[in-house]
Amino acid sequence: MADRKTQRLLEGLQGDLERELRAMLQYIFQSSVLLGLQAMSVVPHLRQEGEDALRHVAFLCDQIVNLGGIPKLTAPKFSEVRDLKQMLENDLDLEREAILEYRERAKQAELAGEIGLKIRLEELLAEETDHTRARKNFARLGGIARGSCVLFARHNRNRHVSRFTLYVLRITFHGVSHATSSHSR
Ligand SMILES: [Fe+2]
Ligand SMILES: [Fe+2]
Repeated sequence: MADRKTQRLLEGLQGDLERELRAMLQYIFQSSVLLGLQAMSVVPHLRQEGEDALRHVAFLCDQIVNLGGIPKLTAPKFSEVRDLKQMLENDLDLEREAILEYRERAKQAELAGEIGLKIRLEELLAEETDHTRARKNFARLGGIARGSCVLFARHNRNRHVSRFTLYVLRITFHGVSHATSSHSR
């Protein structure tokens, strides 16, 4: 039987697991329903965050088992809105909640004497902070802003996207003059 502090930590991790499952389903859903220019700019990022959430799900399941619990893997309800602005606001709420909860979980892990887990939870917290920053970039000008172009470029940096593709994206998002000056750098 787990002691009181470990029990509290386990309950918290179970809540984190539910939230990560929700994030994973929400981001995959969003990346499928967005179309056109919106899709080109935001979808690669949403897919990546869906994969991040799946990795967090697996991590949390392992930690729950390590502490003597059984992970509950039932599909939670998630937001199915299809308006980009509303999507981004919902996602931002989810990411902010994740930051607050992982901060609390890291404290609980320390109290339970789980120092290694505390450090790994802080690493998750750092990732969620990156996700929050990315969402804020997309939210400016409804996702079709400089941030989205930069994030798309970053996401695809290692995926053999040609300079021409990035050039076309810059024209799409910024107009010809900016693209020309950026391209010639
Ligand atoms: Fe996450
Ligand atoms: Fe996240």
